[in-house]
Amino acid sequence: MKKVVTCSQMKLLDHGTIHNMHVPSLVLMERAALATAEEIRKYLEKKNGSGNLKKERILTVCGFGNNGGDGIAIARLLHLAGIRSEIYLAGNPDKMTEETRHQWDIAMSYQVPVMNNPVWDEYTVIVDGIFGVGLSREITGNYKEIIDHMNEAPAYKAAVDIPSGIHGDTGAVLGTAFEADLTVTFAYKKRGLCLYPGRAYAGRTVVADIGIYDRDRDGSELASKAAWHIEKSDMKTLPARKPWGNKGTFGKVLLVAGSKGMCGAACLSASAALHGGAGMVKIQTVEENRIPLQSLLPEAMLTSEFDEEANKKNLNWCDVLVIGPGLGTEGSGKERMLWFLENGAKAGKPVILDADGLNILAMHPQWMKFIGEQTILTPHMGEMSRLCGLNVSELKEDPVARAYQYAEKSGGVLVLKDACTVVTDRNEKLYLNLSGNSGMATAGSGDVLSGIIASVLCMYLSCEEERELSYKAAMAVYIHGLCGDIAREKKGSHGMTAKDMIEALPEVLKLAEV
Ligand code: APR
Repeated sequence: MKKVVTCSQMKLLDHGTIHNMHVPSLVLMERAALATAEEIRKYLEKKNGSGNLKKERILTVCGFGNNGGDGIAIARLLHLAGIRSEIYLAGNPDKMTEETRHQWDIAMSYQVPVMNNPVWDEYTVIVDGIFGVGLSREITGNYKEIIDHMNEAPAYKAAVDIPSGIHGDTGAVLGTAFEADLTVTFAYKKRGLCLYPGRAYAGRTVVADIGIYDRDRDGSELASKAAWHIEKSDMKTLPARKPWGNKGTFGKVLLVAGSKGMCGAACLSASAALHGGAGMVKIQTVEENRIPLQSLLPEAMLTSEFDEEANKKNLNWCDVLVIGPGLGTEGSGKERMLWFLENGAKAGKPVILDADGLNILAMHPQWMKFIGEQTILTPHMGEMSRLCGLNVSELKEDPVARAYQYAEKSGGVLVLKDACTVVTDRNEKLYLNLSGNSGMATAGSGDVLSGIIASVLCMYLSCEEERELSYKAAMAVYIHGLCGDIAREKKGSHGMTAKDMIEALPEVLKLAEV
């Protein structure tokens, strides 16, 4: 796992390194510039083959904050490497920070060329060092014009730390933003580089170690409430399947799903749970679904009984409950959801509340009392909007804040599904997901996720290691995204379906076995 920080957390970390550890800010700046210049040089060498970079001409556009200071140092390092490298100063030089002024003096000593009216089309690389994480308001006027010129130019585009115009915490575009092919960010990914649209503006993101220290003087962790993103190497931490285990050891999932004429969602969710390694899956559904479901998925058990005695038996049997896929919001669906949500909570079973389960909850907020620490709620933006009463554009303005508010209010783990899914709980554990792609925006994809979450919860049943529910949910979201990535490789983002993601699941889970 890697940390993802907010702008204020990054400032705290910078401040700690400079003031507690006595690392001069110019040293950090030099390391940031070295790392960025090196990435640009690598790009140029790949493009030209090593050696001849004579045709290349680089313009670094610098603001007067410290991001501009990084930019000036990058231009100087590229100049000293013998590449044609020029600076264009955006903004008022009288407002330069001390460090940036220092970089300016060094660059002038080395006679790095400065352009006053650059011809934007003449450059093969444009580096954006206008605003970093200090951007605090909409970009207007002259800055906006400059960024538009930079975007229109045919050059390869590299951003320093974060593309100018992207809000470092929300990923929002503040008026306009630099469209980078490459972003070299320092120490940690910033939230705005993970969330959309910021993530799309950043292009390929490289995290450079510049020597930021993450501890306070007393050894305590600075920015301890930072978010995390899971990565491939974390797959190895999934619990190994015990050689002496049986299907009971590996978890029993009860899926309360499907309604008359709606069995597809139940089928996809159950199939994902089975392919994800759950030992047994039983679908509690309506009798009309028996033939299609048992024909499509003979590995799953099925019950259409719904009375106190049968329900208790089924509830006692299972380790994990999934409630919602294809349930419908009226009649039997509503009754089944209420019985299993209430009694599941009383029995202390982990409950994944998905799809219509969430829609029913939105219609009956009094049932929120059955949501607790063992509940995982998996709304997409539309369901979240129904749950919390905000419209989708309001949610998208700051998905992390909205997700956290609802997790706190409900007491459960919230999985807010979007292009960058946010997972959080009332203890402010926060995960931003970086796997997956737009091909996953297809019917049934969410049903697959609820099944994968159930299977990940099952994996931890037979292992001694304790992990928080939010971590298990985030791991499942990451796995789901990897399935989407494999499905896209095989079928392309237009042609892939939810079933392709399930088919990719065994290959993804092999990563846990190596
Ligand atoms: N228009 C004009 N000026 C603005 C705007 C705006 N929309 N928003 C912010 N500013 C001003 C701020 O008042 C501040 O002076 O721009 C400056 C912000 O500059 P940054 O370089 O983004 O912030 P700073 O804190 O100096 O440096 C942070 O330095 O460590 C490096 O690159 C790293 O991103 C990091 C950066």
